[in-house]
Amino acid sequence: MHLGDLTVYHDGAFARYADSKVGLLTHGLQYGTGCFEGIRGFWSEREEELYLLQLADHYDRLAQSARILMITLPHTTPELCELTVELCARNQLRGDVYVRPFAYKANEDIGVRLHGVKDAFAMVAIPFERYFDTQRGLKVGVSSWRRIDDTMAPARGKITGTYVNSALAKSEAVMNGFDEAIMLSAEGHVCEGSAENVFVVRRGVLYTPDPSQNILEGVTRRAIITLAAEELGLTVVERAIDRSELVVADELFITGSAAGIQWIESVDHRPVGNGERGPIAGALIDLYDRAIRGGMPKYAPWLTRTYGGRTPATVG
Ligand SMILES: Cc1ncc(COP(=O)(O)O)c(C=O)c1O
Repeated sequence: MHLGDLTVYHDGAFARYADSKVGLLTHGLQYGTGCFEGIRGFWSEREEELYLLQLADHYDRLAQSARILMITLPHTTPELCELTVELCARNQLRGDVYVRPFAYKANEDIGVRLHGVKDAFAMVAIPFERYFDTQRGLKVGVSSWRRIDDTMAPARGKITGTYVNSALAKSEAVMNGFDEAIMLSAEGHVCEGSAENVFVVRRGVLYTPDPSQNILEGVTRRAIITLAAEELGLTVVERAIDRSELVVADELFITGSAAGIQWIESVDHRPVGNGERGPIAGALIDLYDRAIRGGMPKYAPWLTRTYGGRTPATVG
């Protein structure tokens, strides 16, 4: 389907993408005063069902981001979950999807601030397959850009303006021949990728930076911690991680809604472990893939059905 023909949700109504516009001086566009989520949906061919992943967790985080920006969301988390289902169904999406809800300051005037500016909300759902080439491990490089510190801009909010930090790191990494960047915190501890959380495996224990390390508290991160502990019986430790721990790790991987779980082959051109996909990353990749497509009943609460037995062709 052509992008312009997609149905989107904007300012309280469904409309065509091509007809949904914002003005040039829109506050969120000029000053980065917006927040958003990146939500995935996975298609099960066997069940002819589109499973939307961890909707409530994403909308709870959107509510937190909105609160940070003094934005009032027009809907509650349950209402947003329902709207997401409705949007995907209206577009008759059959295949993996990416849903982008966002809230932003909508005044068209000059003057940077958060108070006294009107709010707006929109949601777009598009077909989406892969963020990375999943056939091999990623080559990552430690970025010369440090991750924003919570004393400068709220790190635990998913705020549009702060993504210039991610964009700088990602482009630097790709232009230097890597697939992805790993950013350190201002204090020099391992923080995260440009849009992913990071995990280190050492001697059978899983380590990941704790929320005080200026990470975005990833929904996928939490899912992986749960799978690692409950399905593999692993110890998961959340603590500050040093750069050299990346180099001596047995395995490294990153997690994110867009990226899923991606194992890392090398860091700063040095192979991680033996440079092959490790057993723990491998097991988690397989478990996650089963869970998100409805293959693990225990994790059914993570999933929201779009069609619920109706075939996509009959919904519109
Ligand atoms: C900066 C950043 N860190 C981490 C993540 C991973 O978070 P999640 O698993 O909720 O997608 C994302 C992706 O949204 C991100 O943009």
